[in-house]
Amino acid sequence: MNVPHTIAIDGPAASGKSTLAKRMAHALDYLFFDTGVMYRAITCAALRAGLSMDAEDQITALSERAQIDVQTASADDGRDNDILLDGVDITWDIRSPEVDSNVSVVSAYPGVRAALTAQQRRIGQRGHVVMVGRDIGTVVLPEADLKLYLDASVEERARRRYDERLNRGDEIMLEVVLADMRMRDEIDSTRAVAPLRPAEDAVILDSDNMSIDEVLAYSLGLARGEG
Ligand code: DC
Repeated sequence: MNVPHTIAIDGPAASGKSTLAKRMAHALDYLFFDTGVMYRAITCAALRAGLSMDAEDQITALSERAQIDVQTASADDGRDNDILLDGVDITWDIRSPEVDSNVSVVSAYPGVRAALTAQQRRIGQRGHVVMVGRDIGTVVLPEADLKLYLDASVEERARRRYDERLNRGDEIMLEVVLADMRMRDEIDSTRAVAPLRPAEDAVILDSDNMSIDEVLAYSLGLARGEG
């Protein structure tokens, strides 16, 4: 059996790609690496430093010197990993509504992307990894052995994000989540550098019509050469 060493999973926010990647990584005994946490960590750092989100040069400089670490989870509170920024635990801070609303702007800055892409590539090239993001199959690991692009309608994705938030105890309205999701889709897919789009050789899956178990079974079949 010729199992791929690098698996790239891309797709829009809340398409289910992290869940899929986590479960694939578990089944294959690979590292699960969600690159979105790095863009979120820089956004969190910029907000903490009181920078305006328009301050491209300062945010780029910050992304070049920030030390982001992803470590084994130290608490049993639903986290996949500990995310550290310059040694400080920011695991839950990067999921705040403030970070959600600003991360698309920060991740569109070419200098920020260059800094983070270089780090992601180093980790990906070690192999045995399922890497998740927006540009993994197109830019970060164009040589990935298997590329998946997981899609779902914006309404379905907004509903999932809304349910997640409610479960965490946030007070939030579905219409607000939907509007935010549309805005992020627009920024992510129209930015000049590394816009969200499937790689030419990606397998496109639509999770509106498939349960996560079906998507997982199909994807593992592809990874194991049964597709
Ligand atoms: O997947 P997520 O919602 O945690 O991603 C947060 C933001 O980071 C999102 O607006 C897109 C951006 N991102 C990116 O541009 N490239 C990646 N490889 C991963 C995330």
